[in-house]
Amino acid sequence: MTESIGILGTGEMGGILARAFSRANYPVLLGSRAAARAAERATALAVAGGGKIQSGDYTTTVQSASILILALGFSDALTLLPTLGTALNGKLVVDISTPWGDEIAERSAAERLADQLPATAQLVGAWKTTFAATLDGPHDLQHDVFVSGDHAAAKQRVSGLIQKLGFRAVDCGNLATARVLEGMVRLMGPIARSLAPAERHGSPAWKFLP
Ligand SMILES: NC(=O)c1ccc[n+]([C@@H]2O[C@H](COP(=O)([O-])OP(=O)(O)OC[C@H]3O[C@@H](n4cnc5c(N)ncnc54)[C@H](OP(=O)(O)O)[C@@H]3O)[C@@H](O)[C@H]2O)c1
Repeated sequence: MTESIGILGTGEMGGILARAFSRANYPVLLGSRAAARAAERATALAVAGGGKIQSGDYTTTVQSASILILALGFSDALTLLPTLGTALNGKLVVDISTPWGDEIAERSAAERLADQLPATAQLVGAWKTTFAATLDGPHDLQHDVFVSGDHAAAKQRVSGLIQKLGFRAVDCGNLATARVLEGMVRLMGPIARSLAPAERHGSPAWKFLP
């Protein structure tokens, strides 16, 4: 089945993911709080090498796509999901967020966002440790995208997307494992800053080496 990709949020990750999926020939819908902003961004992304990207507000985007990527901050996603109501029925939702400061809790962001979904929707955590610049590749080394989720089939669908974008999908286990990935993201800045300038090569990333 050809998935249609709905991206909620027109910021850095939303834009880069929209362009990456349109280059990979997926139908892409870019959603915003303001439909006009999404339309403007979609046009700019197409000019910058993406294919045709549809746009709309969040509700239209959720209704029109089979997979939804939450490309907004954790707290904003937590506030947004309950407002989308039945539009989320049967959807596969991808959480890419990392909580910071007061947002950090015992349970992962992914588990807390999954709690906001109707029973017929499923959530997978992915792309958390993948910086926007890394997604914009190409790279000599195939990068890893770590995947967490409680539903095997949903993880497989998201892993298929990851592979189509040229990355290796690494299954980390259930949704609770997203908390570890979120902690890894918070370590990336301090680690990168501790390296000598000569050891820093572009955008930092985690890769599992067996
Ligand atoms: N940047 C990275 O390298 C990276 C890597 C991996 C994961 N992530 C995760 O990806 C998510 C988005 O990060 P980003 O860097 O793309 O952030 P960003 O550039 O600040 O974009 C966030 C977008 O969220 C939307 N939004 C919805 N409700 C909002 C509200 N109440 N206040 C502000 N914005 C709101 C906005 O789009 P509209 O105005 O169009 O609604 C905004 O453009 C975060 O959860 C982050 O942890 C980021």
